[in-house]
This record gives sequence, structure tokens and C-alpha cells, in this order.
Amino acid sequence: MFNTMFPGRVVGLVFVLSGLLVTGVDLSQAAGIEGLKQSLGKRLFFEENLSSPVGQSCASCHSPSHGFADPRGKAVSEGAHPGRFTSRNAPTVAYAMFAPKRHWNTVDQVEVGGYFYDGRADSLEEQAAGPLMGQVEMANTGKQAIVSRLRKLGYSPAFRQIYGHEALKDAETGFSQLTEVIASYERSSEVNAFNSKYDHYLAGKARLTDQELRGLRLFEDEDKGNCAACHPNKPAITGAPPLFTDFTYDNLGIPVNSDNPFLTIDRKFNPVGKEFVDLGLGSVTGKQDDKGKFKVPTLRNLEKTAPYMHNGIFKTMMEVVEFYNTRDVSDKWGPAEVEVNVNKEELGDLKLTEQEMEDLVSFLRTLTDGYDLTAERTEKY
Ligand code: HEC
Ligand code: HEC
Repeated sequence: MFNTMFPGRVVGLVFVLSGLLVTGVDLSQAAGIEGLKQSLGKRLFFEENLSSPVGQSCASCHSPSHGFADPRGKAVSEGAHPGRFTSRNAPTVAYAMFAPKRHWNTVDQVEVGGYFYDGRADSLEEQAAGPLMGQVEMANTGKQAIVSRLRKLGYSPAFRQIYGHEALKDAETGFSQLTEVIASYERSSEVNAFNSKYDHYLAGKARLTDQELRGLRLFEDEDKGNCAACHPNKPAITGAPPLFTDFTYDNLGIPVNSDNPFLTIDRKFNPVGKEFVDLGLGSVTGKQDDKGKFKVPTLRNLEKTAPYMHNGIFKTMMEVVEFYNTRDVSDKWGPAEVEVNVNKEELGDLKLTEQEMEDLVSFLRTLTDGYDLTAERTEKY
């Protein structure tokens, strides 16, 4: 979280959330060029012929049926080549658009924003280039190869509708047009739905059960769950709905996941094998203070995005909550993967009862998009 509770934290949040006002128009209504970009971007997001070998689309690891995370449920994702795995668990693409560019917040003295778990990309466009080119994910050999393939697959007319004569003109131009339209889709309201039970509750249209309300209170209470310290759950002053992340970085003391298939893949892709240590933000900034820190993820659609954490170590929401609750007082959890910078102030020994943990999880389930409001209408208040 931001280090302190003084107003700088709020300033940071407003900064983050004001992005929503600029970009958060109802994109389902988007017309004209933006609408064309989104629908082409969507086709390409699901296009399985852009990987090499073919068969792997963005959606293979970011499926709408699983909250735009990996539907296969492994600790980390298998790429286009069978047996090649990414080092990290695929986070959801939903709500990723709201991350500001990574920057140093001078008031709170913390890094904020950026894409990927370690903030190494600055925008969705830059981010999308990663998997398209990554040796593991889609394993393409170069921009020229991808652009030729787009032409062969018959995408030229659709690109021309948007970019006219410049469409897929050369490798460089074509590739940036590809990442641009994919990013447009990732910014659409289809991907950022804001229609969970909790959103309807905030709008006064749905009622939380007693258990969900108890969970919400525990989530917010600094002396209980304290989750909101890093996963803010209140609408911004601007009225923008909460994102459940403040885009800061923390080392939660997550242990090595011995079931992570990345640890045993070909040495060409992981030269150190089981000795692999993920330094997160530290690997990008090179700073001692950043080692072991990962970007706070959104908690929206959690119910569908298991397993959890950057290395997919936890299989259920209950296990996550148990970890926060007893990390420092139970020998059930192994040592932290990275011992420096572990946050010992805000988590590790929350003293929640079994019932309270269940209440928290029950609240987390209200963050799943696509809540059916008809149940509310028939219920008597
Ligand atoms: C083989 C699985 C795989 C494929 C295919 C894949 N991704 Fe990912 N994606 C991941 C993983 C793993 C991460 C996290 C990597 C990291 O943090 O270093 C990620 C991270 C992301 C993020 C960052 C989210 C955030 O909150 O920072 C976005 C956005 C994203 N992917 C979009 C895409 C797009 C667009 C495509 C297709 C062009 C794509 N992904 C293809 C596995 C995949
Ligand atoms: C000090 C900041 C902080 C606090 C407090 C905090 N979290 Fe987190 N949370 C994080 C960070 C950072 C991660 C990602 C860590 C990683 O992958 O190494 C995370 C990850 C998670 C995940 C996994 C999400 C995913 O997609 O993999 C869940 C679930 C979660 N937190 C729930 C909670 C709950 C519930 C609470 C309160 C009991 C809480 N968090 C308190 C910072 C925090």
C-alpha cells in the first residue's frame, strides 16, 4: 500500500481514478473508428493463428469465462509450445487498463502503476507486444512474420477501414496497429463491465446478505482484515467505481510454489531451474527496496481466476485469506521466496476466526461481474 495514511495517498488514488473519467465512457456505445478498433481487437484477441505454432490466442491465457485469466487452472500458463511455461500466473486483463504508467509517487515515496506483475510495461499497447513476441507465450519470430500472417488471414480490409492507406503498411506500422486494436478491446466495457453484485450494491440496486456485509466490514477494518489498505473498495471522489487495487507494490512473503512447472522447464528458458527466485519489481528497478514486491492485483472476478498470487501458489480464496491471517503464526507456510522487504505490519497475524474468514470470502464473491439483478427485484425489502 502507500506507506502512510496521510492525504498523499488520496492524491495518488484520485490520480489513478481520474483516468476512469477520461476513458470510462460507456464503450459498448463506442461508434466510429473506436468501435471498429474494438471489434477488430476482439477478433484478434481470440485469434489462434497468430502464435507460432498456431493454437494460442490471448484468450488462451485470458479467457472471459475465467474473468480474463487462464482457464486451465495451472499455477502458471503453458505457451504455444507444449511444455514451455511462463514464470508467472496470468493475471486478469479486466480492469488492467486503469493502471497509470509506472512512476515514483514522491509524496508517499512508493512506486505506483505499470503493467505486468513487475510494472515493466507502460501501456496496454506495449504490454501486448510482450506475449506476441515472447518465446513462451506466442513465440513469434518477428514483427514482419506477424504482419504477413495478418494479411494472409484476411485481416487487411478490416485494418484498412481503420487506418486507410497506412494499414499494415510495413512491419513496424502493422505491428503497432495490431497492439493498438487489441488494447482498444481491452479498454472496452465488455472487458471492464463493472456489473458485479457489489457494484449494484454501491448503486443502491442490490442488497448484500448479512454475511457479505460482515465480510465487507472485515475487509475495511484496519484492525481486522485491513484488505482495503491495498485493495481499496470505495468509489473515488469523482464517483468512479473502485478497482480493488491501488497499483502499489508489496512483498507479502509468498513462499516458493514447488508445483510451479516453470521451475522444471528446459534450461534454455529457465537456466537456474529450481533455484529460480522471482524478484518482481526488484528485477525491473534493480533496487534492493523493491525485491520480492509485486503489483497489487484487482480482486474483481476473483471467484473465477484461481489459482492466486504471482506464482499461483494458492488454489482457493479461503487459502489466501488463511495465509494473510496466519502467515507469521503457523508453520503451515514455507519461508518467503524473497526474505527482504516482507510486509510484516499489515498482514501475517490478523487473528480472524474461522467464521470471519468465511465472511470475508463471502464478500469477495460479490465482486464477480455479470450479477443477475432479477433476483433482487423479486425479493421483498
Ligand atoms: C501463455 C499465456 C499467455 C498468453 C498467450 C498471453 N498472456 Fe497476457 N499474461 C500472461 C502472464 C503469465 C502474464 C503476467 C506476466 C508477468 O507479470 O510477467 C500476463 C500479463 C498480461 C497483462 C498485464 C495485466 C496487468 O495487470 O498488468 C495483460 C494486459 C495481458 N497479459 C494481455 C495479453 C494480450 C493482449 C495477449 C495477446 C496478445 C496476451 N496477454 C497473451 C500470460 C499470457
Ligand atoms: C499490504 C498490501 C496488501 C494488503 C493489506 C492485502 N493485500 Fe492482497 N495482495 C497484495 C499484493 C501485493 C498481492 C500480489 C502478491 C503476489 O502475487 O506476490 C495481493 C494478492 C491478493 C490476492 C490474489 C489475487 C490474484 O489475482 O492472484 C487476493 C485474493 C488478495 N490479495 C486478497 C486480499 C485480502 C482478502 C486481504 C485482506 C485480508 C488482502 N488481500 C490484503 C497486497 C495486499
